[in-house]
Amino acid sequence: MSEEIIEALNKQLNQELRNAYLYFAMAAYFQGLALSGFAHYFMVQAKEEVEHALKFYEYLTKRGWRVELYEVTPEKKNWSSVEEAVRDFYEAEKSNTQRIWRLVELAQKQGDKATEAFLQWFVNEQVEEEEQAMDLRTKVELVKGNIAALLALDRVLAERK
Ligand code: FEO
Repeated sequence: MSEEIIEALNKQLNQELRNAYLYFAMAAYFQGLALSGFAHYFMVQAKEEVEHALKFYEYLTKRGWRVELYEVTPEKKNWSSVEEAVRDFYEAEKSNTQRIWRLVELAQKQGDKATEAFLQWFVNEQVEEEEQAMDLRTKVELVKGNIAALLALDRVLAERK
């Protein structure tokens, strides 16, 4: 693998951890609002991001490269509303899709078939991730200002596996 690809994969590993931090911060924010369903939803999301980081870790080490961990600082730790938080969730996932696509383009440009094949899982995963985030953002916009509907949504989110 080229130095450029190794560095880009390492960066994405660290980006997945940054996203995990962001979603842990969102879980804590929602817990503070006593919206434990939302908090649970983002806790599950944060754990998924750690799993994504591990996939990069395993791939890099399997190919014989050492993983480099950066300092992880959360982009944001607080939000002024439920709407703002779920909008940030959707934006974070859209940005992640772009990063994955750029990685795929880099692998293609360098003829690195193994990395391209490895990244395909993430290409598909991002379709799911964006759809999930968009769905939550739309639901939150629909219930805006209606506390009973927000609490009903909170109960639904508590079911996330
Ligand atoms: Fe790891 Fe939500 O993308």
